[in-house]
Amino acid sequence: MQQASTGRAAAPHIASENADLPAFIEQDYARYDRESHAVWQLLYERRMMTLRDTGSEVFLNGIERIGLASDRVPDLVDVNRRLGARTGWRAVGVAGFIPAAQFFRCLAQRRFPTTLSVRPRSQLDYLPEPDIFHDVFGHVPLHAEPVFADFLQRFGELGAAARNEQETEALARLFWFTVEFGLIEEGKGPHVYGSGLISSHGDAANALGPACERRPFSLDAVIAQPFEIDHFQPVLFVVPSFDSLYRAVEELGARFAS
Ligand SMILES: [Fe+2]
Repeated sequence: MQQASTGRAAAPHIASENADLPAFIEQDYARYDRESHAVWQLLYERRMMTLRDTGSEVFLNGIERIGLASDRVPDLVDVNRRLGARTGWRAVGVAGFIPAAQFFRCLAQRRFPTTLSVRPRSQLDYLPEPDIFHDVFGHVPLHAEPVFADFLQRFGELGAAARNEQETEALARLFWFTVEFGLIEEGKGPHVYGSGLISSHGDAANALGPACERRPFSLDAVIAQPFEIDHFQPVLFVVPSFDSLYRAVEELGARFAS
């Protein structure tokens, strides 16, 4: 969501007059070479083989709605045209790490900071920093779902207004256990929707396997649960629906305000 260099010269900043936001860069689509599209296709097809059964239907519907294709890196102009018409969200290019405060402000404005580079073929399965596959394949399809879209914007508003370490920590845990590593109950059991699970076969297999304890989602349980980023998750949370996510972020906002 926030890192990785594109390896390209920076495009013109479109928000340089506003220091509250990161420097956005435009996607130079013509710069993606044959290898970039081939790596995208490999990642897409490998993940979809499993996600057709294990992915949330909201994700599966989302990739159709925003027009992702298996054989080419997504063009954000096209994605945003489809996405904007549905929920007003946009994926906006960033060149590297952005501070949390800027990230929150982007979400509050329905802008999702997105890295633009494609990971190298030598790092198909593990990449420490996000790339366009994690960000656009993993995150953006859910932004086409109105309730999730509202949840994420509200989350950004709370983050932008956070007053202390304790509030920031609660928000980080809520983000981690939902947007990044969330599971949702659908049909015969839990399905993956968090981007860290959507974009990674290993993390998703762990999340649905015997080594992971899947607990019912509640705001109190999530904000009491620490996490570590560098190994498979031993505990994850399952939401019954995205309505419960929206209610949770509203509840958190009420607590911050009191
Ligand atoms: Fe992410």
